[in-house]
Amino acid sequence: MACLSRVLPLVACLLVLVFSATPTLSILTDGRAKITQQSTSLNDGVDRTYVVLLEPPAHLHAHDEAAHRRWHESFLRPGARAGGRGPPTIRHSYTGVFSGFAAKLTVDELAAVSRKRGFVRAFPERRVPLMTTRTPGFLGLDAKQGVWNATNYGEGVVIGILDTGLTALHPSFGDEGMSPPPAKWKGFCQLPVKCNNKLVGLVSLMGGNDTTDNVGHGTHTAGTATGHFVDDVSAFGLGRGTAAGTAPGAHLAMYKVCDGEGCFESDILAGMDTAVKDGVDVLSLSLGGPSMPLDKDLIAIGAFGVMSKGILVVCAGGNSGPTPSTLSNEAPWILTVAAGSVDRSYRATVRLGDGEAFDGESLTQDKRFSAKEYPLYYPRDSNYCDVFDVNITGKVVLCDTETPLPPLSSIEAVQAAGGAGVVFVNEADFGYTIVVEKYFNLPMSQVTATDGAKIMGYARAGPPSAAAPLNATILFNSTMVHVKPAPIVAAFSSRGPNVASPGVLKPDIMAPGLNILAAWPTMVPVDGDTESYNYNVASGTSMATPHVTGIAALVKKAHPDWSPSAVKSAIMTTSSAVDNAGHPIMDEEHRKASSYSIGAGQVDGAKAIDPGLVYDLGVGEYSAYICALLGEAAMKTITGNGNLTCATVGSIPEAQLNYPAIVVPLSEKKFKVKRTVTNVGPAKSRYTAHVHVPKWLKVKVEPEELEFKAAMEKKTFTVTVSREGDGGQLAEGSLHWKSEDHLVRSPIIADARVVQR
Ligand SMILES: *[C@@H]1O[C@H](CO)[C@@H](O)[C@H](O)[C@H]1NC(C)=O
Ligand SMILES: *[C@@H]1O[C@H](CO)[C@@H](O)[C@H](O)[C@H]1NC(C)=O
Ligand SMILES: *[C@@H]1O[C@H](CO)[C@@H](O)[C@H](O)[C@H]1NC(C)=O
Ligand SMILES: *[C@@H]1O[C@H](CO)[C@@H](O)[C@H](O)[C@H]1NC(C)=O
Ligand SMILES: *[C@@H]1O[C@H](CO)[C@@H](O)[C@H](O)[C@H]1NC(C)=O
Ligand SMILES: *[C@@H]1O[C@H](CO)[C@@H](O)[C@H](O)[C@H]1NC(C)=O
Repeated sequence: MACLSRVLPLVACLLVLVFSATPTLSILTDGRAKITQQSTSLNDGVDRTYVVLLEPPAHLHAHDEAAHRRWHESFLRPGARAGGRGPPTIRHSYTGVFSGFAAKLTVDELAAVSRKRGFVRAFPERRVPLMTTRTPGFLGLDAKQGVWNATNYGEGVVIGILDTGLTALHPSFGDEGMSPPPAKWKGFCQLPVKCNNKLVGLVSLMGGNDTTDNVGHGTHTAGTATGHFVDDVSAFGLGRGTAAGTAPGAHLAMYKVCDGEGCFESDILAGMDTAVKDGVDVLSLSLGGPSMPLDKDLIAIGAFGVMSKGILVVCAGGNSGPTPSTLSNEAPWILTVAAGSVDRSYRATVRLGDGEAFDGESLTQDKRFSAKEYPLYYPRDSNYCDVFDVNITGKVVLCDTETPLPPLSSIEAVQAAGGAGVVFVNEADFGYTIVVEKYFNLPMSQVTATDGAKIMGYARAGPPSAAAPLNATILFNSTMVHVKPAPIVAAFSSRGPNVASPGVLKPDIMAPGLNILAAWPTMVPVDGDTESYNYNVASGTSMATPHVTGIAALVKKAHPDWSPSAVKSAIMTTSSAVDNAGHPIMDEEHRKASSYSIGAGQVDGAKAIDPGLVYDLGVGEYSAYICALLGEAAMKTITGNGNLTCATVGSIPEAQLNYPAIVVPLSEKKFKVKRTVTNVGPAKSRYTAHVHVPKWLKVKVEPEELEFKAAMEKKTFTVTVSREGDGGQLAEGSLHWKSEDHLVRSPIIADARVVQR
């Protein structure tokens, strides 16, 4: 999912919702096939790829991959197919995240597979969409001091990324001054690419050897997470500075599982499987499909296997905002990332004839464009600039957009008709979010819908006299930094509540994802330009995700023994709820942002390695949570362990999962949740509870003080929430555990829509 761009083609952008009505064929265990078909088109003799989950017999050793593969192949024999074709062949054999395989099967073949011993479940695969020079500084990371110094820029940690491949020779992936990967590392680079000490793994899981990034997406995300320092970088002369990823010293392994049309789930799982066996420390996925029940969501199931090996999975939250309940990747064992703005603006100010000015943005900064007055062409009604009823030669044209990005066809139309410049008015529900992209050299500015309405008002009021036409011009002021307020939530960033598990807060965290400058393959053209570029600006939760992945790598470097959930907790509880103007972070409409938009808040790279306390969780707790949410069959499927029963693993309702955020039903009735924190700060420390909630919400924390005497000591407390008075359907606030030197902050959400369990 991912990016908002016309460069990154087709489903790579915005089309997340198109995939919602995916047919599901779920066959439950116990030998007999029970086929639930939501689509008749499945039973047409045509084969499609299924991911088949298996439970291996006890005698099969986990590390004997050849034996596993032979066993997987036994599921497809004997099987001469109709039409004289041979038996189906295995596309991927999985042993790292779970045992199973992917193969193209007809419904009859699938039925045969499902009758064999060891079969658990089969899923028809879906294709899911794919979903910087300044951002590290904005996230509290500074060269030569603080966290980067303390973690040696993430040295020795391997970041795995599932994406569209990358351009191996890009300067961001140079290895100057880097040591070889750790001894445990088993990955390699597929020929003809040669690994270096930065790029330690590069393979395609899509069949064949082509690891080239023909899209740009993978090079951009990899550069954002781990890009090496490169001086004097800019995109088209803008945003000039030193480029670096958030963990510039970390090693990088790229698993190509997507192309410009999206990513097949069987390939995503193969990427996860390979990454786990290779020995990555953190895994990043800037992709995802629409919400699915967790036991039908192959990315969630694969991520569970990855998490159970001690590896944190970081995923994009999706680009379907600002509509509520539009998230991807909702499982609690995933770190789900929302996108916000950066304190940098590519300013292009629109000045009207009456002197009034509106700060728009543009990547097409034409410095030769004379700031003289141009006649302003404006339509009576909305105008998408596809046809013009007058001669617009030499005029500045005002155009509406229906999409986050001005359509290329409008730009071409204005240019072809001789327009001097163009002002694009944002979609109304994008508020203050302006998504910029490089276009032809047509002078242009993109303004908010509010500013656009004012410009239109000026235009509609008409000229003072027929002899004096209305004028406008565009002033290009290059790149502005320290823009306030920042961050604000990007309009496209998907929103909670969590559909698959309403009692667990999602997204978890926000990071920069709007107009992000990062590495780009020179061979991938940047809109309509004949020049080639090795840095480019892109937007999406895809761009936000690798920022967090890099920071997770720094935390992992500082604390190699921490569980994925501890790393995740550290990132969430140290995040910031305020912007650079010192006010609560705002959304795209400049309202106070909900936790359903930003999760815990904006990631803070400087604080994440020293959280004081963590809310830890392991495979056992997650299994008990699945029992309570979805039942025993789902628990067996997701954990891949048919020996487990809910009677033995127990049952943990969503609200009681030891998550670093608290979501409870909003009601007069008291609702009590329990949490356990582990002391990872100074051995002797004392924390006191501070609650910040609206007056009409009553919150009691017991005990109100936690005193630790040892490192890794655990303390349990309860939080009791009830409504007292009427303030609406949703109350949001936070719980702070404060010590002398730490602040451990968790969002509290009381929501009338959440069902009490
Ligand atoms: C399930 O139990 C059997 C018999 O006790 C054991 O041999 C096998 O390894 C177990 N499987 C798993 C996945 O734990
Ligand atoms: C950087 O780290 C080293 C050792 O890890 C330490 O001695 C030094 O003081 C640190 N420098 C800064 C500026 O924090
Ligand atoms: C493809 O990759 C494999 C594994 O790295 C290698 O053995 C083979 O030679 C490569 N083929 C080509 C055509 O480069
Ligand atoms: C449009 O206006 C320009 C300049 O005012 C003029 O040169 C051009 O011929 C006009 N085009 C048409 C099609 O009338
Ligand atoms: C627009 O600019 C022209 C040329 O500079 C000038 O003659 C005209 O008065 C201006 N119109 C208004 C409304 O100021
Ligand atoms: C252009 O940028 C400079 C420096 O960042 C600033 O001082 C100036 O006010 C800006 N001008 C406009 C028209 O925004």
